[in-house]
Amino acid sequence: MEFRAVRGMKDILPEQAVRWQRLEATIRSVVERYGFGEVRTTVIEATELFVRQVGEGTDIVEKEMYSFERHGDALTVRPEGTAGVARAYVQHALQAREPVTRWYYLGPMFRAERPAKGRFRQFYQAGCEHFGDPGPLCDAEMIGMAAEVLQALGLRDFAVHVSSLGSGDARARFREALRAHFEPLRAELSADSQRRLDSNPLRILDSKDERDREAIARAPSLLGLLGGEDARHFEDLRRYLGALGIAPVIDATLVRGLDYYTRTVFELRATAGELGAQDALLGGGRYDGMVQGLGGPAVPAIGFAMGLERILSLLEEGPPASGPDCYLAPLCEAGRARALVLGKELRTAGLRCELDGRGLSLRAMLRRANALGSRLCLLVGEEEIGRAVITVKDLARHEQVEIPWEQAAETLARRLASSPAPAANAARAPGEADEA
Ligand code: HAM
Repeated sequence: MEFRAVRGMKDILPEQAVRWQRLEATIRSVVERYGFGEVRTTVIEATELFVRQVGEGTDIVEKEMYSFERHGDALTVRPEGTAGVARAYVQHALQAREPVTRWYYLGPMFRAERPAKGRFRQFYQAGCEHFGDPGPLCDAEMIGMAAEVLQALGLRDFAVHVSSLGSGDARARFREALRAHFEPLRAELSADSQRRLDSNPLRILDSKDERDREAIARAPSLLGLLGGEDARHFEDLRRYLGALGIAPVIDATLVRGLDYYTRTVFELRATAGELGAQDALLGGGRYDGMVQGLGGPAVPAIGFAMGLERILSLLEEGPPASGPDCYLAPLCEAGRARALVLGKELRTAGLRCELDGRGLSLRAMLRRANALGSRLCLLVGEEEIGRAVITVKDLARHEQVEIPWEQAAETLARRLASSPAPAANAARAPGEADEA
């Protein structure tokens, strides 16, 4: 039987992992400058957490969660990060330790969606969650930070969409307005939307079904129904975004696919590239009721998460990983043990070394050293052992020298510091075959 990765899930091999590491390092460096500290919460949570917070009527909860039962507990592999992070915030009583908490996370999320370009069943998110500030200054700073992350990665072609879902009263008014709008059109709606008309009419606005499109286009806008405080909050947010030089698209159709949002919601969408319908590079918003809903105090919160596969698909390839500093090529049995020890010493001194223990010919090992983009190839044979030396083939400078075994690490480190890295690196090109 042939095993393959599960549909919609992908392996990340080392030559690709280099790009992921660079991406993650950039994200970390930007958000850490804003005071965010990394939190690593559990990948599996109680199913009920997502049912209650993400919402019963959402696509995620209705059909996309990887849920299972074990030892009598109903569990789910996280489809998103916010609910688990808020659960940890409440569990560890962070509000008693500090008035404001800024956390970020990086990791895989799982949703059994229909795989498409930019849409996977296991995908990675980097997310930021900010607890303890009702905004709107904080909202503007979060959106500005999200844009700064994309810019730091080299992305320029994206638009900032913002809206407000209001809080308690406005949402109730909006729900009624949507019901009143869709009810006479009930028979024309998709089966899903007909069901949601009763349970959660806001979710009809997420529908991608052709049959719902026209009715959605004519639906009332929540922005028109915002009351005093909510309206002021949104106005101030726009003013602060303006101060940051961000001209957002005010997008009343932006409802987001999760139920926990209150007031500010936003998405940063790619305006160029091949993502098509999956153009949301990141999305987020305020969720002022979640901490209390989880049994904590009334602590407001806002956050966002970005889809790393989508972002990577828009970035240039970047340089490949550099090859090792030294390729250790033993030429006889005694040389093999010596190269083993030499490698250990060189690595202790900080050099990156690969040992070829396969007993190949010198020619084959040199070819491999070149293919890897190694700077130096170190030969250890009978000759070398007899005279306590190592033959160093400098592959970048095309020269050969002998160095004493004593203080080899220092000598090699000096040489590496002064020699250029080889220009081309065919390193680890998939399919490259070794020749004996
Ligand atoms: P979300 O909009 O469901 O929000 O996901 C955030 C981002 O994750 C999306 O904009 C997209 O880039 C990426 N994403 C989502 N689903 C997939 C998928 N199937 N394949 C690839 N990428 C995907 C949340 O998850 C919220 N927790 C964000 C948040 C944080 N709100 C407040 N705090």
